[in-house]
Amino acid sequence: MGAVILGTGSCLPQKELSNQDLEKLVETSDEWILSRTGISTRRISGKGEEAFQLGTSAAKKALAMANVMADDIDLIIVATMSSHMSMPSCACFVQKELGATKAFAYDVNAACSGFLFALDSGDKYLRVEKGKKILVIGTETLSSRTNWKDRNTCILFGDGAGAAVLEYQESEQGIVASSLFSDGTLWNLLYMHSAPSCNPDLEQAGNPGNYILMEGREVFKYAVKAMEAAINDLLLKEHVNIEAIDLMIPHQANIRILKKLVTRLGIKKEKVFINVHKYGNTSAGSIPIALDEANREGCLKRGDLLLVCSFGGGFTWGATLVRW
Ligand code: ACO
Repeated sequence: MGAVILGTGSCLPQKELSNQDLEKLVETSDEWILSRTGISTRRISGKGEEAFQLGTSAAKKALAMANVMADDIDLIIVATMSSHMSMPSCACFVQKELGATKAFAYDVNAACSGFLFALDSGDKYLRVEKGKKILVIGTETLSSRTNWKDRNTCILFGDGAGAAVLEYQESEQGIVASSLFSDGTLWNLLYMHSAPSCNPDLEQAGNPGNYILMEGREVFKYAVKAMEAAINDLLLKEHVNIEAIDLMIPHQANIRILKKLVTRLGIKKEKVFINVHKYGNTSAGSIPIALDEANREGCLKRGDLLLVCSFGGGFTWGATLVRW
């Protein structure tokens, strides 16, 4: 049918940063953060926990579950916007760390939707290059792109990575289809500058620094509507009713966004996997981390219909159906 997920893995940094810890950094409270976002704590990278290192650990676990050797991998796609270097790509560092000598490797930047976009690219690649194996990874260290003095944003994000090994199979299993979207006209509601330009003519006026800026309320409204629309588009296209979904794994941004989405879709809340309370919003890491947890906790059994959806800066958003 399409690309089958042979194995999943995830890696979270050691260090926790709780809401109580954040109370010491900015004027906020555990009660405010929990009631507005559903987040209690998040993980923050320390030394040796760069995006490529978290991604590599997640990939090793996914390879072990899939029983695939690193040098059997043909392609590595990494979704990230917080690699320690702009060049080489994070994917090339992961390739080096894994010793995946046969693989070519590149990054995808679709902000929080990065993993879904990368998964779709991987699926399309495998439908042409049958017989190959690929690694799709979402990894972020947004702690390195956070203004720790801005209480509007610093409470939301966390670091982490997840990975999946894919292979094309002629079976009922695999990625069924995706509906993916972007709208660059809304870039200014959620964005992050690059490092300052060396060319004065290309210097961005008012570049405040290399960190996330956001119009939270607007993002909230668009996120709910856009994910709902993408899911409905996909379900209509594939002639699938929402009742047929066995598990939904949404991008873990905010519990209030998810509750609104769940109500509008009419899906039973027991079918929705949530871990935002533990890790905050890990951007491109969020879906593969949740997918790995759901998989290892036995929430998915063969033949289940899995619905995944995301929303992020760009704006970028989408939904994917997977027959497990
Ligand atoms: N602690 C205490 N007070 C705060 C904090 C904080 N951390 N942050 C903001 N406030 C204050 C504001 O200053 C404001 O005070 P004022 O009324 O005196 O001006 C008040 O709380 C209300 O601020 P709002 O921004 O209107 O609060 P809102 O209820 O909208 O919640 C939030 C803010 C949580 C950011 C919400 O808008 C949201 O979740 N937006 C979605 C953002 C998101 O998820 N972004 C992630 C990237 S996109 C994605 O992954 C989907």
